[in-house]
Amino acid sequence: MLRRTLLRTLLAAGLASRAAVAQAEPDRCTTVPPAPSYRDWPRVTGPLQRDPAQEALIAKLVTGMTLAQKVGQMTQAEAAHCTPEEARRFYVGSILSGGNDWPAGRTAPPAGWLKVADAYWDASMSTDLPIHVPILYGVDAVHGNQKQFGATLFPHPIGLGATRDACLVERIGAATARQLRVSGLDYTFAPTVAVVEDVRWGRTYEGFSSEPAVVRHLSAALTRGLMGLSGPATSFPGVLTSSKHFLGDGGTDRGLDQGVNSASLQQLIDQHAQGYVATLEAGAQSVMASYSSWVGEPGLPGGKLHGSRYLLTTALKEKMGFDGFVISDYDAIAQLPGCTVTRCAQAINAGVDLFMVPKHWRMFIADTVDLVEKGEVPMSRIDDAVTRILRVKLRAGLFQLPRPSQRAGAGDEAALLARPLAREAVRRSLVLLKNEGGVLPLRRGAKVLVVGKGADSLPMQCGGWSLGWQSTDGTNADFPAGQTVLTAVREAVGPERVTFSEAAQGVDAAAFDAVLAVIGEPPYAEFMGDVAWNPLTRRPPPSGQAARETLELAARHPEDLAALDRVSGKGVPVVTVLLTGRPLYTDRELNRSAAFVVAWWPGTEGGGVADLLFRDAAGAVAHDFQGRLPFPWPRSACQVGTRSPGEPLFPLGYGLSYAKPGKVAALHETPGPASGCTD
Ligand code: GLC
Repeated sequence: MLRRTLLRTLLAAGLASRAAVAQAEPDRCTTVPPAPSYRDWPRVTGPLQRDPAQEALIAKLVTGMTLAQKVGQMTQAEAAHCTPEEARRFYVGSILSGGNDWPAGRTAPPAGWLKVADAYWDASMSTDLPIHVPILYGVDAVHGNQKQFGATLFPHPIGLGATRDACLVERIGAATARQLRVSGLDYTFAPTVAVVEDVRWGRTYEGFSSEPAVVRHLSAALTRGLMGLSGPATSFPGVLTSSKHFLGDGGTDRGLDQGVNSASLQQLIDQHAQGYVATLEAGAQSVMASYSSWVGEPGLPGGKLHGSRYLLTTALKEKMGFDGFVISDYDAIAQLPGCTVTRCAQAINAGVDLFMVPKHWRMFIADTVDLVEKGEVPMSRIDDAVTRILRVKLRAGLFQLPRPSQRAGAGDEAALLARPLAREAVRRSLVLLKNEGGVLPLRRGAKVLVVGKGADSLPMQCGGWSLGWQSTDGTNADFPAGQTVLTAVREAVGPERVTFSEAAQGVDAAAFDAVLAVIGEPPYAEFMGDVAWNPLTRRPPPSGQAARETLELAARHPEDLAALDRVSGKGVPVVTVLLTGRPLYTDRELNRSAAFVVAWWPGTEGGGVADLLFRDAAGAVAHDFQGRLPFPWPRSACQVGTRSPGEPLFPLGYGLSYAKPGKVAALHETPGPASGCTD
């Protein structure tokens, strides 16, 4: 503080430069404030204020609705299973296109999406309600509008966590909102505000970090960027977000997706609730309940989050003061004891307001009407749910907006591209773990051998939730706006200086100045990405699976080590770039690399990787590494996260740079246990 005051005084006297003052000012974008500890669920005030005119219209609408119309408003159906005419007839309040739903076709242009969005909008505006209620259309825009063919995809949240830069993340949120508007979409099921404690979780990469303060800092920024909110208001110009998955999804035992979180109540509040406090403060109007469960505490019932009245209503709505709506996850109510996919009084009474029942939405409406008529769900709960949904639609400006194709930005294909911003984000997200002898940056005149299954693979660069859900069947053609690392390297040094051999077979590394190995994890999503075997995959544990139930890259993907073994020890430096949705145990791969860079799943702009690996044409350092680990890096195959004992190999926040190099000793390479990780 004193230093800053002194600098300001000197500046005023013309004796210090603005740069010196700026340097002294902690950068508000990348300075992560500490996460407060709370005695109880904290009361949160967001920028969106109650508007008496809105509340009066809501009361009028609710009073004028039949029970069936109210329940229709509480229903979210999937486009593939609900025509616009059905949406009109049943007063459906929201439509979604889940990970594998492309109503206009997988590679449809924005015009195709707009035609679909208009059809549902027109349907909602032609019901026999005295005042028409506009429909909401939601998708998962996890790292850009990945539903839209041709959109730039940004680094996944795990990579953005490495930047710790709230201003960058806010800009990405705004760019994502523009991409959604191009396609006529007004609701995204993001951000995931999970505090990820066990990186065996298949959704680790959808989170920013294992550090609650980083999650808090960046999830608020992404929410602001997506919603376009910057201060007190009664409506927001951007898209509706959904903070998810409430709560504790990243803290389940063994990192099992949809598993059980054994945290104490205090841990639940101080660790797992931080992203909700921050996003509600930023103005979030929708929260998605988690498939996972909480063990509960004496006097506080545990169980599935979707059925927890204590957490959804007492904690979130009453104590924290959340007055938006809670949405259920995809058919999640079917997992509650005594419930089916269409009939679940427990979830309604617990506080879920909008129900994601993609296929069975029609029976859900009928069953819920029956539950009310039988007295199992009070009308007051229905009225509260509809009030919340209408309040959010009014705050989203939906009642004033024209049909999707007539809105600002609709169909503007140029807005799908955000290549400079994405490339900057890639550069800022990369973490340098090792750089022996200053091998990096490479000179542009170098003769480079490129190997590894990730070198020329946009699907591997983009990871899960990229055009599809699992994104395991993708090809480079799925991402016409993308650039692979290989293409970017060819652009940097000249194609005549680059040889590519994916498996490093039939080539002699000694004939090159350097080898670049791009390796790592193929795409996955949700429970399909769990390291510990998860029965949700509906597959028996394959023989030998246990050995792969660790974080050891060499056990999970031996093809990468095989490629490194073919090119290392030839007197030529090996630079390894790891594409991954999580930290991994990589002793063997690190030992075979002179330099080692973690690129996470960087998205479509592979050029951002080349920007850091090579000097500029004049031989100077063009860009330096800024990324710092958002998770601790494993020292052993079963050091799976912040709950594991012992020191990590590299701590949270670690990251080398050209300006600040560091030495990495030879590593022990102890293989993981063949029986998998015991906890
Ligand atoms: C999925 C996910 C959720 C997503 C939803 C819609 O099962 O759990 O995060 O938003 O379904 O795709």
